[in-house]
Amino acid sequence: MRKIVIAIDGYSACGKSSTAKEVASQLGYSYIDSGAMYRAVTLYFHQNYVTLDNPKEINKAIDNMTISFIFNERKVASETYLNGLNVEEEIRKMYISNQVSQVSAIPEVRKNMVSQQRKLGKKKGVVMDGRDIGSNVFPDAELKVFMRANLQVRAERRQAELLEKGQLVPIPEIEENLLSRDKMDSERKENPLVIPKDAYILDTSELTLPEQVDYVLQLATEKMIKHDV
Ligand code: DC
Repeated sequence: MRKIVIAIDGYSACGKSSTAKEVASQLGYSYIDSGAMYRAVTLYFHQNYVTLDNPKEINKAIDNMTISFIFNERKVASETYLNGLNVEEEIRKMYISNQVSQVSAIPEVRKNMVSQQRKLGKKKGVVMDGRDIGSNVFPDAELKVFMRANLQVRAERRQAELLEKGQLVPIPEIEENLLSRDKMDSERKENPLVIPKDAYILDTSELTLPEQVDYVLQLATEKMIKHDV
């Protein structure tokens, strides 16, 4: 069957990554976490004291930065590398979550990341999750899904994820971070978070992970059949 591009966008902590990873794995597609790229840039800027309102400094920093992924045997990008170092654990910490929306709103940063993301999806057979994948990175994606969930569910899920990594973060702090990122990601000038008009909306508040995965796989199968003829 012909390979397609699956774009999964939505608010923070709605289950995009877990769903996208499992869908990719079941289809034998590559999975790319575009948010991890913005998180890696944020880490680099933080470590190198890059001034966020100086485009020259920003462009120089971007030139000095290589972001790559290590894929597991199921082609799922499981670890993020920044200049050859595994930063997967560091980029998930709260201090990065608290700065990433500001960094990802910088036009120079977006231009560069979007161009890398397009290259990664050129051969199709990819599931990419983020905020502007269906609206901007791959406007012609065969399948676009927009995920959302209520705030309490999102905060509880994020807290459990962080706890698994040994970080105990109180629910109010997580909720504040999620709300402020939603706001910044939706209101920024460059490629804001919007619901693409041809996206399927998936509310995950009451769904389990296998149910979310089944929903996307069902749609993916329909699209693959459609695009095969
Ligand atoms: O998916 P995530 O929560 O790890 O993403 C972190 C941040 O990166 C998110 O708050 C906004 C930014 N981002 C973006 O601007 N565009 C994307 N395609 C993906 C993420």
